[in-house]
Amino acid sequence: MTMAGNGRELAASFDLERLTPEFYADPYPTYRALREIEPMKRLPNGAYFLTRYDDLVTAYKNTKAFSSDKKKEFAPKYGSSPLYEHHTTSLVFNDPPIHTRVRRLIMGALSPRAIAEMEGDLIRLVDSLLDRIATKRSFDLIGDFAAAIPIEVIGNLLDVPHDEREPLRDWSLAILGALEPVISEAAFARGNKAVEDFLSYLEVLVERRRAKPGNPERDVLTRLIQGEPNGERLSAKELLHNCIFLLNAGHETTTNLIGNGLVTLSAYPAERQRLIAQPELIKTAVEEMLRYESSNQLGNRMTVEPVELGGLQLPAGTPITLCIGAANRDPAQFPDPERFDIGRTPNRHLAFATGAHQCAGMALARLEGAIAVSRYLARFPRYAQSGEPVRGGRVRFRGFLSIPCVTGD
Ligand code: HEM
Repeated sequence: MTMAGNGRELAASFDLERLTPEFYADPYPTYRALREIEPMKRLPNGAYFLTRYDDLVTAYKNTKAFSSDKKKEFAPKYGSSPLYEHHTTSLVFNDPPIHTRVRRLIMGALSPRAIAEMEGDLIRLVDSLLDRIATKRSFDLIGDFAAAIPIEVIGNLLDVPHDEREPLRDWSLAILGALEPVISEAAFARGNKAVEDFLSYLEVLVERRRAKPGNPERDVLTRLIQGEPNGERLSAKELLHNCIFLLNAGHETTTNLIGNGLVTLSAYPAERQRLIAQPELIKTAVEEMLRYESSNQLGNRMTVEPVELGGLQLPAGTPITLCIGAANRDPAQFPDPERFDIGRTPNRHLAFATGAHQCAGMALARLEGAIAVSRYLARFPRYAQSGEPVRGGRVRFRGFLSIPCVTGD
């Protein structure tokens, strides 16, 4: 089949609810075909799948017409369940004014000063993980490194005692896994159980913190409990669910930034050598990793009034999927978009979205990514993959479950 013919076939047969193993391995040929042939693709379930950069920016910026509130959408998917309560209470799935109030409190706790103060601890943590890897030589880049970093960072942010952090990763994977377009009974049950267990744990943690508050400048949980000086506070339910959300939002996404970034560098040896030779490129390199293999590939909105987008009239009540992975390779925005260029500037990618819901933790994620990747490369410049990486098999959160590696020393 010709390239064009193949592209037409990929675009015509695309259905988010029926994805193929080839798609999970490499979704970009499909995304490209959609962007070129059907950039506002109507899916069999009536939702629109958007792949052009400019259309995503328009939708992200217009919170009045494109709502993030998921109560209607999640009711049939989750029924009355812990997953429903959790996802519909977290700030990312709400509109102003609830969203504005909760976001203000969370942003206050993630101020640039608070994040700059984390740098020393973060370097020590990364170096201690690298020390442990050096003694093993053969290791899993995800389990031994990429996943261990954000769990500790967010554990520190909420001041979760070290010996109580172990279940956090599985809870978070189960809760976010339930956001996939199609979920099995087992995944639904796992997600609900994770929300319940997480809530019971946090109730105890919050009680302890109320009795013995930490420093609100450094401890996000204390800050969220105490609220703003103007008296603004979260309700008990908002507090617990947004703590869960923070842990989840900052965990798998950052793990995948580090894992995807290092795997991409392995696939582009010249760029890897360039970064080793010019470590000062780390900032633009992290941005390019975020663009090229975005850890969060999809966003969702629902129109709440009739609106025109990309030349189409959309009635109120139209579900929209925003494909970050496709927009980040749109040639209308990024020259030579399939090229992985660690010096790319400008690089206005949408890995953190844009507009009112733009990632509240992006400064932290960037810091984690830069420290993890630069210290890893400096320590193990000859690292190599020693087996096939295992993909997470998800369309929304793109990354690996494990990446067997050797240090090369
Ligand atoms: C590479 C890592 C990360 C990526 C790619 C990422 C990506 C995103 C994206 C795309 C959104 C917007 C979702 C939407 O509205 O559709 C978002 C929201 C959010 N992220 Fe991140 N994120 C990352 C790390 C983090 C970290 C480390 C934290 C916190 C510690 C965090 C906290 C949040 C919060 C609180 C929101 C909700 C903001 C709102 O709705 O106003 N994220 N993130």
